[in-house]
Amino acid sequence: MRTSERFRALPAYPLAGMKEVRRRIEASGVDVIDLGTGDAQLDPPPRVVERLREVAGDMSYSRYGFQSGLAELRESIADWMRVRFGVSVDPNTEIVPLIGSKEGIAHLPFALVGPGDVGIVPDPGYQAYLGGVTLAGGEPYLVRLERAHDFLVPLDDIPTEVARRTRILYLNYPNNPTTAVAPDDYYRAAIDFCHRHGAVLVHDHAYSEIAFDGYRPRSVLELDGARDVAIEFHSFSKTYNMTGWRLGWAVGNPELVGALTRVKTFVDTGVYLGIQAAGVAALESWADWVPGNVGTFQRRRDAAVRAFRDAGFDVECPRATMYLWIPVPTGTSSEAFARRALEQAGVIVLPGASLGKGGEGYFRIALTVGESRLQEAAARLGALR
Ligand SMILES: Cc1ncc(COP(=O)(O)O)c(C=O)c1O
Repeated sequence: MRTSERFRALPAYPLAGMKEVRRRIEASGVDVIDLGTGDAQLDPPPRVVERLREVAGDMSYSRYGFQSGLAELRESIADWMRVRFGVSVDPNTEIVPLIGSKEGIAHLPFALVGPGDVGIVPDPGYQAYLGGVTLAGGEPYLVRLERAHDFLVPLDDIPTEVARRTRILYLNYPNNPTTAVAPDDYYRAAIDFCHRHGAVLVHDHAYSEIAFDGYRPRSVLELDGARDVAIEFHSFSKTYNMTGWRLGWAVGNPELVGALTRVKTFVDTGVYLGIQAAGVAALESWADWVPGNVGTFQRRRDAAVRAFRDAGFDVECPRATMYLWIPVPTGTSSEAFARRALEQAGVIVLPGASLGKGGEGYFRIALTVGESRLQEAAARLGALR
């Protein structure tokens, strides 16, 4: 097969063979604890499932959704943006529903970058940023996220020559995988950076609602000047345990939303309208259902932080997200540690390097299982140190 240069520039998948290892060790009777993927074993709000059942037999929902989809969903999203962040947006021009936020994050660069244009990509980071910029023919510029600068993309360190060519700055706070959060001043600096360089601020807000101890992440659109340069991506996946339903949205500058919508007219025909109706039910259950779900993650976080510390790991207590980001204790690569974790402890963790070279030296666990399983996983991994 002759592949394209862009395709060949995609990074290799670092966990080749792990599925096979898992099958083998499960067949030998090991009770594997999977903390790898951020896909909690928790149910969506009951109202969401009920709504899908109601509309499944209604053939008017069986037609193409097209790009703008169900007006009722865009209106619900606009209402939610107002209630949650105090941000007013036009549901017709400033919101587009997505087949999961990943889809939009990866497709936006097709509207914005070409050869010679740069997309600034946090490293480690969600791989859709790198994939989108690369497949669109742009130049990803990877910036390392380090504990020393609170895992914020150090904007002042970006060389002028790169900044000048930057068309997209990807930011994601609360951050996967480092769990870092960003203060308002940092967003202000990022907005200023984008104004100065004619770049677009793409804020990935997949974890906006999974925050603890009273912390409430803000929308970047709340800040002055953001409406000129920013587009924000939201997801139903984590907030409502709806990962497989594939529903998210982009909101922000109408030109950017319009450009993404136009790209989408050439690559997809919208989300099933029944799922969009279920999305309305999810947003309707936000106020009374989400706090309980976040409480579940907070209890898991507390139990896991305690258990991993007791097992000798150096772990910070995250203010948000459903992860712990933990230094590899063994002096080996993160991939070697993840392989040993599975083979010798029956625990699946995500090696930091699978989210970019900048993640080397760390592994990530997802709070996808209950407290006692997390404690068991910590004890098993502690024995590997
Ligand atoms: C940082 C980040 N952004 C976006 C997504 C994608 O979410 P969705 O399921 O809406 O595509 C994820 C999912 O893991 C994520 O971690």
